[in-house]
Amino acid sequence: MGARSCSTVILNSVETPSLSSRVELLKPSPTLAITSKANAMKAQGIDVIAFGAGEPDFNTPQEICDAAKAAIDSGFTKYTPSAGIVELKQAIVGKLARENNLTYSPEQIIVSCGAKHSVYNAIQVLVNPGDEVILFAPYWMTYADQIKLAGGVPVVVQTGPETDFVPSYDDLRAAVTPRTKAILLNSPSNPTGGVFPRQTLKEIATVALKNNLWIISDEIYERLVYGFEAGSIAALGQDVQDRTITIGGCSKSYAMTGWRIGFSAAPLAVAKAMSNLQDQVTSNPTSFAQKGAAVAFNLPSDQIEAMRAEFEARRDLIVGLLNDVPGFECNLPHGAFYAFPKVTGALKPGESDVDLASWLLEEAKVAVVPGSVFEGAGHIRLSYATSRKNIEEGVRRIKQAIVDRTA
Ligand SMILES: Cc1ncc(COP(=O)(O)O)c(C=O)c1O
Repeated sequence: MGARSCSTVILNSVETPSLSSRVELLKPSPTLAITSKANAMKAQGIDVIAFGAGEPDFNTPQEICDAAKAAIDSGFTKYTPSAGIVELKQAIVGKLARENNLTYSPEQIIVSCGAKHSVYNAIQVLVNPGDEVILFAPYWMTYADQIKLAGGVPVVVQTGPETDFVPSYDDLRAAVTPRTKAILLNSPSNPTGGVFPRQTLKEIATVALKNNLWIISDEIYERLVYGFEAGSIAALGQDVQDRTITIGGCSKSYAMTGWRIGFSAAPLAVAKAMSNLQDQVTSNPTSFAQKGAAVAFNLPSDQIEAMRAEFEARRDLIVGLLNDVPGFECNLPHGAFYAFPKVTGALKPGESDVDLASWLLEEAKVAVVPGSVFEGAGHIRLSYATSRKNIEEGVRRIKQAIVDRTA
């Protein structure tokens, strides 16, 4: 066939080949819809107060930035081992020993491109098609999508404000089936701010040991706790550690969301599998970001205490203000930087949390995330990783709008 007839075929073609059925599983998130609408309003000069962001509004501490700059200047800009540089792995091993009471060797640490990537690796190496993974709702929506991408099935154990978003032992046991492969927990939690007490960690460990399940513990918010010990589930005993993948990172506690450094601490066989996977998918996380992260994990606690204390003050402020909005009920979250009020008392007949969130954006010019996104219908999520001034003004607008429409 000559070049001419070939181009005719291309011109006549009206269809393109289909995408993989895998990506069809990924639904566009309502959070993005709200965020892009809020951004479009801002671009039109409308003063929108955004409570959507899942990232600290502080700058990354200077020592960390200096270490990364020095690494670039010294030419540390090439490939590194896929699973991370030894210096950073050792800093993580030291941090886990000091703060989490966990003993690991550097070979058990896999450094990835953010904790999200660490969760992805863990699910990819543990979950086969048809395997079930237990999640505690409300949960960070990424988990369900990543489980589905691996062909797995998310199985939800619902929690609510009545128990401070702590799951019941009976509900957890009832969710186990012969197909269950793993339990995934996230304490402190996005979106609820809930922190699991030690008793709940023990119950999860007991169920995992009894049914031969893996435990994936996403502890990315571990340093952001307010009068409450977070505690690593793997620290309950060697038998628990041997089946747990502990995930952490510097995004939230050190204000380093853009650096893309997360880690897994895992049993050796799991760590090796994750390293092999990462070899074929991303190779190493950015070389000089790793140098900065090594400094972060060695920072004395008082360096990040100021950020934690500010979050605690904002938490108290926002929860107090939200509880003053007619129809809102907000538990005091013990960790992370999210308030998750129940808003059913403020809904009109037939109205959902998704409707309320989009109405608040239109009427009050305030962006919040509907709880349904996290399987927490009847709630909204507000990130208090924003200034006290924004918190005061944003919740004032919400209250005013709700009062006006019920008047
Ligand atoms: C529960 C939870 N895990 C993990 C992550 C991702 O962290 P990273 O930015 O390090 O990928 C987030 C970010 O929002 C989160 O909320």
